[in-house]
Amino acid sequence: MEDAIVKLRNIHKTFGENAVLKGVDLDIRKGEVVTLMGPSGTGKTTLLRCINLLERPEQGSIQIGGDFADCARLTKKAMVQIRKNSTMVFQNYNLFKNKTVLENVMEGLVTVQKKNKDEAKKIAVEELTKVNMQDKLDAYPSEISGGQQQRTGIARALALRPQVILLDEPTSALDPELVGGVLDIIKEIARTGITMVIVTHEMKFARNISSRVVFMDGGFIVEQGEPNQIFDHPKEERTGRFLEKIMH
Ligand SMILES: Nc1ncnc2c1ncn2[C@@H]1O[C@H](COP(=O)(O)OP(=O)(O)OP(=O)(O)O)[C@@H](O)[C@H]1O
Ligand SMILES: [Mg+2]
Repeated sequence: MEDAIVKLRNIHKTFGENAVLKGVDLDIRKGEVVTLMGPSGTGKTTLLRCINLLERPEQGSIQIGGDFADCARLTKKAMVQIRKNSTMVFQNYNLFKNKTVLENVMEGLVTVQKKNKDEAKKIAVEELTKVNMQDKLDAYPSEISGGQQQRTGIARALALRPQVILLDEPTSALDPELVGGVLDIIKEIARTGITMVIVTHEMKFARNISSRVVFMDGGFIVEQGEPNQIFDHPKEERTGRFLEKIMH
């Protein structure tokens, strides 16, 4: 892909004896919303973490925007550069429990991006307003619902203005009645043209939001394409079998 903002090439990640990613290639264009699906344990979370270099692949390369990293010869400088291009939204929110909603969103702006407090606060309030959390700025994580915690996590990721947002099953820890609200917010954010990679099992949401669905199994990308093609006419038997399972 000529105009890709993210280019992953031949990504390998092994934990001990367990080869999880066995040569993953993936290109993502600016503004694309890519959903990543596949059986449990297939390496979806690992792949997201590799894009952010929270996990270090033993082999392969990562390019995001103008930054490039050869994973086998990773320098500190390349790592710092690649990392600042993406932010993760975690399954279990990962908020600081001893910080308020506002402080959680300000944290990275002040410590990583070295913004002064006033500027950080302005950005944080702006992003928290987008996710409808403007009335809870001074609440602590223990005082708000899971949905509100995840919306704070999304605001925190947006506030850093990364080139790509990586969301790892953002609604899987939520009570069913809170899922819809968080999915709606992700849908709204997607409309603003931000590039996103989302691991999700929410088929309806994936169909609705994705420009592309990527199906992973056995350490590789098995199949990818537009959601209607993947969901209605999967080419690979493994994709079909997986979809059967999650639909029933
Ligand atoms: N830090 C780690 N140390 C050792 N093994 C790990 C580590 N992280 C992941 N693994 C292993 O890598 C494999 C892939 O895990 P991963 O969490 O990426 O899968 P997944 O596709 O996200 O699964 P799920 O759908 O259940 O979230 C699993 O076998 C897991 O046990
Ligand atoms: Mg996972």
